[in-house]
Amino acid sequence: MIFPTNILLLLIYIFLAITLALLFVLTIESLIKGHDISTGKKAFNALAKTIQKYNPNTKTFYDLGCARGSLSLRLKKKFPHLEVYAIDNSAIRIFFAKLKNVFLRRGINFQKQDIFCTDLRNADFVFTYLWYDIMPILEEKLQKELKKGAVIITNTSHLQSWKLEEKIITCPKPSKTPDFETLFVYIKK
Ligand SMILES: C[S@@+](CC[C@H](N)C(=O)[O-])C[C@H]1O[C@@H](n2cnc3c(N)ncnc32)[C@H](O)[C@@H]1O
Repeated sequence: MIFPTNILLLLIYIFLAITLALLFVLTIESLIKGHDISTGKKAFNALAKTIQKYNPNTKTFYDLGCARGSLSLRLKKKFPHLEVYAIDNSAIRIFFAKLKNVFLRRGINFQKQDIFCTDLRNADFVFTYLWYDIMPILEEKLQKELKKGAVIITNTSHLQSWKLEEKIITCPKPSKTPDFETLFVYIKK
């Protein structure tokens, strides 16, 4: 016969086992797919201000490389009218993003996809926080597909061949990563 305290202990063990399994999966995932650090609070606030400054009528927002969706979920909460499309090529990260989306009822379009397969012709606003090596190839795609007037904001890594409209430093302390949490704003001409 199992006593209530034993049942409680069993439940705690199950909870710990699930938590450890999830941490293990996410760690392996980070080793294989690369980091999935979210944009920090200050940079997020700067992003929100930039949307209002450059295009308060933004309808469609694309988070290219959304990881587990933290930024997109926060943004949709702040701007409920926005159509948010959030893309990541990691099935696990998108799974967690979709789970939170359902739980929080945010109505974001999370998709497991390579960003280079995403059609950006409809985008009013594009946000990226990606590795430096991806940026040169992405620049070409943005140049080809984005409509005139579309706004691009990149976090930390930037677009080499585009004319910079504004640089917003949100983390003034020196960091090992150049331009860490600095936002770069561009407009498609
Ligand atoms: C640093 S996270 C950024 C998360 C979120 N955008 C933010 O700023 O909080 C970068 C994400 O980009 C994704 N990623 C990198 N290359 C990608 C690609 N070619 N297609 C789709 N996602 C990609 C990674 O899986 C990772 O989750």
